[in-house]
Amino acid sequence: MNRRDFIQSVSAASAVALSQGAFAQAPAPAKSKSDDLNVGIIGCGEQGRVLITSALPIPGIKFRAVCDIWEYSQQYAKGYLKKSGHDVNVYEDYRDMIAKEKGLDAVIVATPDWMHAEIANAWLESGKHVYCEKEMSNSLEKARSMVLTQRKTGKLLQIGHQRRSNPRYIHAIDRLIREANILGRVTHAYGQWNRSVADALGWPKKYAMDQTKLDKYGYVSMEQFRNWRWYKKYGGGPIVDLGSHQIDLFSWIWGCNPSAIVAMGGADYYKGREWFDNVMTIYEFNTPEGVNRAYYQVLTTTKRGGFYEQFMGVNGALTISEVSARGDTVEREAHAPSWDEYAKKGWLKPVKEAIKPTTTRNVAVDVRVTAEAGKWPLPIELLKPAHQPHLENFFDAVRGRAKLNCPPEVAFETAVAVLKANDAVVAGRRIEFKPEEFKV
Ligand SMILES: NC(=O)c1ccc[n+]([C@@H]2O[C@H](COP(=O)([O-])OP(=O)(O)OC[C@H]3O[C@@H](n4cnc5c(N)ncnc54)[C@H](O)[C@@H]3O)[C@@H](O)[C@H]2O)c1
Repeated sequence: MNRRDFIQSVSAASAVALSQGAFAQAPAPAKSKSDDLNVGIIGCGEQGRVLITSALPIPGIKFRAVCDIWEYSQQYAKGYLKKSGHDVNVYEDYRDMIAKEKGLDAVIVATPDWMHAEIANAWLESGKHVYCEKEMSNSLEKARSMVLTQRKTGKLLQIGHQRRSNPRYIHAIDRLIREANILGRVTHAYGQWNRSVADALGWPKKYAMDQTKLDKYGYVSMEQFRNWRWYKKYGGGPIVDLGSHQIDLFSWIWGCNPSAIVAMGGADYYKGREWFDNVMTIYEFNTPEGVNRAYYQVLTTTKRGGFYEQFMGVNGALTISEVSARGDTVEREAHAPSWDEYAKKGWLKPVKEAIKPTTTRNVAVDVRVTAEAGKWPLPIELLKPAHQPHLENFFDAVRGRAKLNCPPEVAFETAVAVLKANDAVVAGRRIEFKPEEFKV
């Protein structure tokens, strides 16, 4: 399974837990016609299609228009939406779409990062609510302009860090770690996203855009247009593309922004790509409990371990991933207070098999204090596409029934932390963050 696959139910019991609303975030689904929202999307590539698929099951969402500079993506989105009963107008230029689609309530922006600010700001200025993909931008100045435009217009701007609306993450972070404090002080966190070696993306020859059109929209070549992630003009490279989701969690866990960073990495394997193909970084967080550290790595030459996050506290560790098969357990240390009360409350899934006591006999090093005392599965499965709850949160906010889970101020703080990783690689030394850097 990859992150775009649906996360399937593993048990009826967990489905009940979610549907009973014990942990669910999404408010009651919209039912009446007056709840209908007219929606458009700008950028219908890989992620645009994931978002369309994730929005289609949400009651009341009516796609009315799509925009993409590439005919291939236009055709795909139009055809896919038609099959789902949505007849859409098609645009090449978002400015043309703004001029003509006055009846939209909200738009989704899923273009490459470098166009997010220009397009999202223009839609906000035109009076529409915007769901914009992460990373907010590949430039902090442009990200800052999005915060300011949102404030000025008063329209909603949700940024696509979808874990912020995922009931599994909300349960793990807000309930188990922050509220119940079952891990004790979380002194360390870890995250990784490892991917296999991959060739550069190609394109069907008959859909190649000519140079005049590429120039018009700011792309140097078809190769750069398709592989924008690897070029500084358009994106932030793998650490920004993939790390932004996971580095975002460190600030969520500790309730503060990082105070310092060190990083190493390089453009070491692929030829002709600008951005670093491997980055290993350590963030330091000055929390009220003391200094805690988080290690994060992104590798693009091995898929070893895939993608997941770990939060390691003095009483136990929680491993989680957007795809539950990659991480879904909390491990208790032998010395930790009993977790039975959390199992009784349904906050942890009861462990089926009795845990065998760990013996230290014949072991040279005394491992008693670190001996594992049981793995407790998380009690929640997400029975929807991973991006659906975040879109639901956005549309519920548009309907006036919810607060955004990832408003631009939150996403800006993450962008500061994430983009600094590239600076730290270049600097080759420890960089301190100033608290005011995170504020707009
Ligand atoms: N939240 C997530 O899990 C997640 C996952 C993948 C990608 N993303 C984000 O989604 C965005 C798109 O990524 P992708 O993987 O779909 O890239 P992609 O290259 O597959 O698709 C981008 C699409 O945008 C179109 N486009 C480019 N410039 C445009 C412009 N000026 N106006 C209109 N359309 C334009 C392209 O033609 C293409 O169809 C990026 O910001 C990326 O970081 C988020």
